[in-house]
Amino acid sequence: MTASKPDLYRDLAEQLAALLAGEADRIANAANMAALIYHGLPDLNWAGFYFRRGAELVLGPFQGKPACVRIAIGRGVCGIAAARAATVVVPDVHDFPGHIACDPVSRSELVVPLIEGGRVSGMLDLDSPLLARFDEADREGCERLVALFLDHHR
Ligand code: SME
Repeated sequence: MTASKPDLYRDLAEQLAALLAGEADRIANAANMAALIYHGLPDLNWAGFYFRRGAELVLGPFQGKPACVRIAIGRGVCGIAAARAATVVVPDVHDFPGHIACDPVSRSELVVPLIEGGRVSGMLDLDSPLLARFDEADREGCERLVALFLDHHR
């Protein structure tokens, strides 16, 4: 039987906590987190991070095809999620004005901001080739994984 989404995210949270334990390096931890998510969640074609550098987001550790390196705050799904400091779920990227198509196969997207000290420090970005791949359970699950990552690096 396929695990329910809450079960799947509970497992991922446990595995992430184990990967983070004892390691303080953000880049190493972000790389393992991207790999954990990419291989642990079904139907993804990209999972990874962008980190804020001034008025831009710059590509961080990820799994999937090479992606655009710099995204201005306010541009694309990632830049809009950064400007709003809020999670953005896009059921169909073709209907999202300004979506930045790194891989034409991507059809839906979930972006969770990393917020530290009241400031957006980066994004976790997931792409799927399936229409409307991400629902409320994915939003909650991914926000929980991001919270674990941020708590660890506080
Ligand atoms: N689609 C994103 C760009 C990043 S890639 O999906 C990896 C966006 O519109 O911000």
